[in-house]
Amino acid sequence: MYKKTLWGAAACALLLASAAAQQPKTASQGIDEYRAMLQDGNPADLFEAKGEGLWKQKRGPKNATLEQCDLGKGPGVFKGVFVELPRYFPDTKRVQDLESRLLTCMSTLQGFDEAELAKTAFGRGEQNNLTALATWIAAESKGMKFNLSQSHAQEKVFYEVGKRLFFQRAGSHDFSCASCHGEEGKRIRLQDLPRLTQNPGDGVGFAAWPAYRVSNGQMWGMQQRLNDCYRQQRFPYPGFASDATIALSLYLGVNSKGAVSIAPAIKR
Ligand code: HEC
Repeated sequence: MYKKTLWGAAACALLLASAAAQQPKTASQGIDEYRAMLQDGNPADLFEAKGEGLWKQKRGPKNATLEQCDLGKGPGVFKGVFVELPRYFPDTKRVQDLESRLLTCMSTLQGFDEAELAKTAFGRGEQNNLTALATWIAAESKGMKFNLSQSHAQEKVFYEVGKRLFFQRAGSHDFSCASCHGEEGKRIRLQDLPRLTQNPGDGVGFAAWPAYRVSNGQMWGMQQRLNDCYRQQRFPYPGFASDATIALSLYLGVNSKGAVSIAPAIKR
């Protein structure tokens, strides 16, 4: 906790120092510079190292490692899987994203209670471990291009469902994802809102998560990113690894085709 506070303080000091030292510039130029400065010391590295350790560690009621986990390219393969997820998995007969698939492996291989883990709050206990694992797996595909499959019928269904969810307006403000992410050049406070219905928007917004968030000193996976956007949309929180969040991810992921993954990134 103390360390996290220090990171936050150092980041703020940097931002202030850079603001004072330079000519006026647009907010997004300022943010871009701030991000560039932070690239060197992305604390996501620490989560990556933790995730790699967890993969090889015997854990859970079955005292087993995750080394036989199949993330889409066969048991034990972790390079290149991230840029092809979410995808259809014949064994579970489900379309799964990285986090939902890790949940499956932690349950089948290590004996963790899937429902219990899905109920655990972000940033707590095994959820923390799951985020670290997702960070490491994502990092193993850094620099590779997104190339999600649309060959299985279920993958096509999930794309259509994701698209509809993206444009579905409801709630107290009658917002949809598209209200904030459907046009070029939108911003909330200092934060650019990428247009997520196409690449490069998706290549920026989707291809960066898991990401370390400087503003709260936390590592967030895509599930938490989407949950928080549902909060901003004034919708109820979706369940962890729900089909709705996976459909949205698949929609954004397919739209990202050809974009280079920079995950795990560092964000405001
Ligand atoms: C009320 C406005 C609002 C709505 C509605 C909204 N978002 Fe967001 N979204 C944001 C903001 C603000 C950020 C930047 C968050 C930050 O850095 O704090 C963001 C960030 C994101 C990102 C990461 C972008 C990046 O550059 O890293 C993704 C992906 C995303 N939203 C997806 C969605 C999806 C999918 C929905 C619908 C379920 C949605 N958002 C609904 C405001 C919104």
